[in-house]
Amino acid sequence: MPRPAPRPATGSSACSRNRSARPRWTSRSGPTCATRCGRRSCARSRPPTRTSASGRGSSTWRPRSRRPRRQPCEQHLCRADRRRDALRARRAAPVVVGEDPEVPAAGRVRPALRGRPRCGRAGVVGGDPVSRLAGKVAVVTGGASGLGLATVLRFCAEGARVVAVDLNAESGKAMLSGAAAAGVGDAVRFVAADVADEDDVAAAVGTAVAEFGRLDVMFNNAGVGGAFGPVTDIEVEDWDYTFAVLVRGVFLGTKHAARVMIDQGAGGSIINTASVAGLSGGAGPQAYSSAKAAVINLSRSTAVELAEHRVRVNAICPGVILTPLLHQGREQQMRELLPTVQPWPDHGRPEHIAGAALFLASADSEFVTGQAISVDGGLTAVGPDLGNRLQTRPGDAGLVGVNRGQTGVRSQIRRRVGDPGPR
Ligand SMILES: NC(=O)c1ccc[n+]([C@@H]2O[C@H](COP(=O)([O-])OP(=O)(O)OC[C@H]3O[C@@H](n4cnc5c(N)ncnc54)[C@H](O)[C@@H]3O)[C@@H](O)[C@H]2O)c1
Repeated sequence: MPRPAPRPATGSSACSRNRSARPRWTSRSGPTCATRCGRRSCARSRPPTRTSASGRGSSTWRPRSRRPRRQPCEQHLCRADRRRDALRARRAAPVVVGEDPEVPAAGRVRPALRGRPRCGRAGVVGGDPVSRLAGKVAVVTGGASGLGLATVLRFCAEGARVVAVDLNAESGKAMLSGAAAAGVGDAVRFVAADVADEDDVAAAVGTAVAEFGRLDVMFNNAGVGGAFGPVTDIEVEDWDYTFAVLVRGVFLGTKHAARVMIDQGAGGSIINTASVAGLSGGAGPQAYSSAKAAVINLSRSTAVELAEHRVRVNAICPGVILTPLLHQGREQQMRELLPTVQPWPDHGRPEHIAGAALFLASADSEFVTGQAISVDGGLTAVGPDLGNRLQTRPGDAGLVGVNRGQTGVRSQIRRRVGDPGPR
């Protein structure tokens, strides 16, 4: 992509390296360049002198705060100024990630992202280009599929370098190809590892430090459905496997990431994937639901413990998200069914969780720790949904009014304006 010509810099962007070289604002002999080039036509020059309002001669001295801002001439923009201006111009075009749910996430990253990922080309907030994870290093477990894969790509698009960890090496290869196609291949490493194994987790965290020099974000996300069936029939081994992946995996990720983050002394963010199933009893098998509840409280308790090191710990509770774990091969059927399970009229997508993870990973959530954030299209907000289940929602019958209970004052009920009434 051709680089746009540098924009004329504003006065406030004068090169800080030249600051010491700036002349004091005292010469009366006419304008000179702020970089001491001596050119009177230089735009960095001070404006023409004016006679003071008091009429006391031609003194042009005025307090620093009231002096007009100086503009650097093109010739005297330092290299850093030019680079910064060119970068700002390039950042101005937003990158769209996750706009079209039908297109695989990796293919959705703008071609502008191709090549080595650079800071500040990923998102636009309020018209200002931002790169919310520039310079950050993250580990994402379960990073080869579903929520983890979407998060790896989103983090990279936001300037992070990422180590994706997954048990499935085949998916890992596909993830690397997708990342390369998206132009962020240089920013991603893959480690085949089992999150339930301490040596594997320690090695994965070590890879982040060895490859990228540090660790700022740990996303403990790998998961499986685990044991299912009647509680009377569940094997201990299956129960333990479920907890090993879902809870021990989060514990180990937290333990080894926190060690590095504490040593670095620069804080960090640990994000754990829990589930809405961890908030109630009716949203998943017993083992899964119990394990996810454990993840929520593990997040809270480690948040309290690690706060003094400025290491934040939060959990994300996804609702129903269309991933291989959920659809298990019945993708089309689920795609049609899912929009009906929660108030939000579209199905949940991995990119929705990646967006929440980005918020928790970035400085935007600096004061957020120990929270379990539901990302569920309103699924938990519905609660028991009794009005629906008992069919006691008068609004559904086109009625509106006020129920005054047993007060002795008459309740009022009327048909909604424009309602045709019972057929
Ligand atoms: N999809 C949903 O609706 C939903 C809802 C709530 C919570 N979650 C949670 O989100 C997380 C991600 O799930 P997903 O939907 O993306 O599923 P997914 O199956 O698409 O991805 C999970 C990834 O984790 C990996 N993994 C499993 N066990 C592992 C282990 N022991 N070590 C390393 N990697 C392992 C898998 O290989 C897979 O690539 C899980 O923790 C899951 O419980 C998902």
